[in-house]
Amino acid sequence: MAKLLYSVTMSADGFIAGPNGDMQWMRPYLEPNPGVDELIPQIGSILVGRRSHDGDDPHKGEPGAGEAFGGGWDGPLFVVTHRPPSTPEPGVTYVDQLPKAIAAAKAAAGDKYVNIIGADIARQCLAAGEVDEVLLIVAPVFLGDGTRVFAEPGGRTVRLRPHPAASGSNLRYDVLR
Ligand SMILES: NC(=O)c1ccc[n+]([C@@H]2O[C@H](COP(=O)([O-])OP(=O)(O)OC[C@H]3O[C@@H](n4cnc5c(N)ncnc54)[C@H](OP(=O)(O)O)[C@@H]3O)[C@@H](O)[C@H]2O)c1
Repeated sequence: MAKLLYSVTMSADGFIAGPNGDMQWMRPYLEPNPGVDELIPQIGSILVGRRSHDGDDPHKGEPGAGEAFGGGWDGPLFVVTHRPPSTPEPGVTYVDQLPKAIAAAKAAAGDKYVNIIGADIARQCLAAGEVDEVLLIVAPVFLGDGTRVFAEPGGRTVRLRPHPAASGSNLRYDVLR
């Protein structure tokens, strides 16, 4: 049975994008990451929010730009959106309801991970009790403003327990339910 993992690179002050969705902040920190290299083959599908799917690519201008993990991963992508486009895109399924998207991404992942991309989608998956693990790759920079790794109006406590695969700046946790 597939597990859901919310994985993201964030600044040391907890932002995953700078103001106005800026992702170029990440460019100086796109370094080899053995923990991520180990994880990539364990990912069976990606569940991504429309804003992340359409957004600014930190790999802009490089080979692999516009692809998951800068071209390091290939597989089925499920984009959650209220506005599914009419033109099909190979390998991409647009889904207009989150529960349906989760079910489809899980079915496609088999016994591998569904990797969640996008803070809004991750927030909703956490609220629904669907997230099993979190991987926060911390870049050594403060951004001061932007999209938070986790934001819930009024607050929500999500208890985490360190995961055995955590190492260095790869903060990895099990989500306690
Ligand atoms: N640091 C990193 O590793 C990293 C990785 C990826 C992305 N990012 C950046 O982080 C930011 C993430 O943005 P975000 O968290 O605001 O957005 P997101 O989760 O990527 O996408 C949110 C969008 O998904 C659609 N959506 C959300 N819930 C839905 C639902 N229940 N049903 C149908 N559609 C739904 C809506 O789009 P529509 O209404 O338009 O359809 C919504 O605006 C972006 O700027 C992205 O570039 C950072």
